[in-house]
Amino acid sequence: MLKITVLVSGGGTNLQAIIDAIDAGRITNAHIEAVISNNKNAYALTRAKNHGIPAIVLSPKDFAAREDYNRALVETIDGTDCGLIVLAGCMVILPPELIRKYENRIINIHPALIPSFCGTGYYGLKVHEAALARGVKVTGATCHFVDEGTDTGPIILQKAVEVREGDTPKTLQLRVMEEAEWQIMPEAINLIANGRVTVEDGRVLIRQD
Ligand code: GAR
Repeated sequence: MLKITVLVSGGGTNLQAIIDAIDAGRITNAHIEAVISNNKNAYALTRAKNHGIPAIVLSPKDFAAREDYNRALVETIDGTDCGLIVLAGCMVILPPELIRKYENRIINIHPALIPSFCGTGYYGLKVHEAALARGVKVTGATCHFVDEGTDTGPIILQKAVEVREGDTPKTLQLRVMEEAEWQIMPEAINLIANGRVTVEDGRVLIRQD
């Protein structure tokens, strides 16, 4: 059974998609051990509590120095004894020591087709604002392993989503969530939990059976 710790910052719809997929049997061999939020007001915390999942708040604001927060974050995650860390709308820059310690055991969902609209400064609604400003006709979402760069880790799954005439950042964000994020994030977790994902030379191989 793969133990998962989910890091969140906001609404937690991706967390909800994971919870629902486990309940529905679309994710097997996996269990959410804990949810950790940097934001005490994140609705994701309520979603966790509603499902009996331990919900932990750990905010950089409560620490004098960033190094102290980083140390506490690593200790808290280690304490959950997890095999996979899932960044589900997590807006915190992770400490490099955490990324090294959990190499190929941290995944993120990004609301665009990497390498488009990603990297420093591209998060949340800003991604969709940039996609609309550029006038792309297709966008989507990417689930990838996390390395020490920003959105540069090996890509596990991607799904394209149509951009429509009259889209606003919010309508596009919702369509990308519904049609892509809430599908590929649970699917990627299921593949990992069932031992079907390997990383070779910076690329993900998925064993189909
Ligand atoms: C999602 O759209 C996710 O892709 C994005 O934040 C949103 C969180 O929503 N993540 C990033 O932009 C990371 N760079 P949620 O809290 O409802 O899951």
